[in-house]
Amino acid sequence: MYKILEVEELSEGVKSFIIDAPLVARKCEAGQFIILRIDENGERIPLTIADYSREKGTIQLIFQEVGATTRKLGQLNAGDALLDVAGPLGKATEIENFGVVVCIGGGIGVAPVYPIARAYKNAGNKVISIIGARNSDLLIMEKEMRSVSDELHITTDDGSAGRKGLVVDPLKDMIATDQKIDRVMAIGPMVMMRGVAEVTRSHEIHTLVSLNPIMVDGTGMCGGCRCSVGGETKFACVDGPEFDGHKVDFNGLMARARMYQTEERQCKGYGACHK
Ligand code: FAD
Ligand code: FES
Ligand code: MG
Repeated sequence: MYKILEVEELSEGVKSFIIDAPLVARKCEAGQFIILRIDENGERIPLTIADYSREKGTIQLIFQEVGATTRKLGQLNAGDALLDVAGPLGKATEIENFGVVVCIGGGIGVAPVYPIARAYKNAGNKVISIIGARNSDLLIMEKEMRSVSDELHITTDDGSAGRKGLVVDPLKDMIATDQKIDRVMAIGPMVMMRGVAEVTRSHEIHTLVSLNPIMVDGTGMCGGCRCSVGGETKFACVDGPEFDGHKVDFNGLMARARMYQTEERQCKGYGACHK
């Protein structure tokens, strides 16, 4: 069992858990994730390791309550425990001193971008971050992102915090003003990542995106997370989750993400899956 040590609500429907998971904490790196199961009837869901402490043997998960399992997770309190936490899974982010790296996080995507931005910063890069959300209430981890960034830009769809608009807007401005950019890392909704990749493509700026297709086993066995990258089939759980954004078939991914919509809606109604 994996004990939940701390619970914090970061914004409406977004929670942070600190979990006692010493074996995961000992080995995990930025960019990796875990797959958890709440109890023996629970489905397996992947969540990014947003932070960790090797000394304390803990990991931090930040999740948005979007459906049956994440809602059930959100009802747990400090002192409760999860049945399984499998990981670290996926490839760690390639971290080197590339020069200037732009880190972009949209919505809950700010959580997975944070440890990556921090690792780029620690490797000596100039880190320019752009974080965005629909409105100021949904904006998370501004303080944390500021602490690991040389520059931080904020956007909201309604202008209630930072600049009104999308996360690609400051990126477009940087490109228009000849800001040197050696690499872009974008994590967020599929449409956002596709939008970022479209902006950087013609400027040949190396752009990484972290894909979040449906995952079941997380070890390359079930094929649930398959995606097409550069015309080749890849498994996001073992070959990714990060891929070259200019090569990803986003349309195929978006269609696959909608595959279980009917079942997801039914589960939400019952408050739990697999009844
Ligand atoms: P459902 O109603 O079952 O599904 C809602 C939507 O979530 C679906 O349409 C689908 O797009 C997605 N989803 C459902 N089941 C899965 C699954 N087994 N695997 C992947 N996606 C699924 N979310 C966070 O809030 N924080 C994170 O740090 C985070 N990291 C992720 C890292 C990876 C590598 C991946 C693949 C996904 C990550 N997600 C993260 C998304 C998270 O896994 C889904 O939001 C969660 O599984 C939804 O489960 P549900 O039962 O609550 O919702
Ligand atoms: Fe099963 Fe990737 S989750 S192959
Ligand atoms: Mg579900």
